[in-house]
Amino acid sequence: MWNPFKAKISGPDLTFLPSGKRVTVLSGTTVLEAALAHDIDLNHSCDGNLACSSCHIYVEFGDEFSNPLSSEEDDMLESADHVQTNSRLACQLKVYANMTVKLPES
Ligand code: FES
Repeated sequence: MWNPFKAKISGPDLTFLPSGKRVTVLSGTTVLEAALAHDIDLNHSCDGNLACSSCHIYVEFGDEFSNPLSSEEDDMLESADHVQTNSRLACQLKVYANMTVKLPES
């Protein structure tokens, strides 16, 4: 009998650095949703409502297949520390293909 809880998810792989933990997600899952579902410690003070910048991450690989940075996300990123050209907010970044993200040092 088919058991949905044992069904293997078919979708892109998302790798979190520096731990190197790799998870498979459904296409369109946000990085924050994936982190929470796999017990990866990722700050999210506003619970993904684009009202903080605590979920700031860096995309190391695969950003060309993600949703583009919105002006609202770009505005919120201005309040994050150590912003780089590959900075994104994990609650806004959707995974459609294999991706590697780096969590800032805490
Ligand atoms: S959790 Fe606050 S903007 Fe992502």
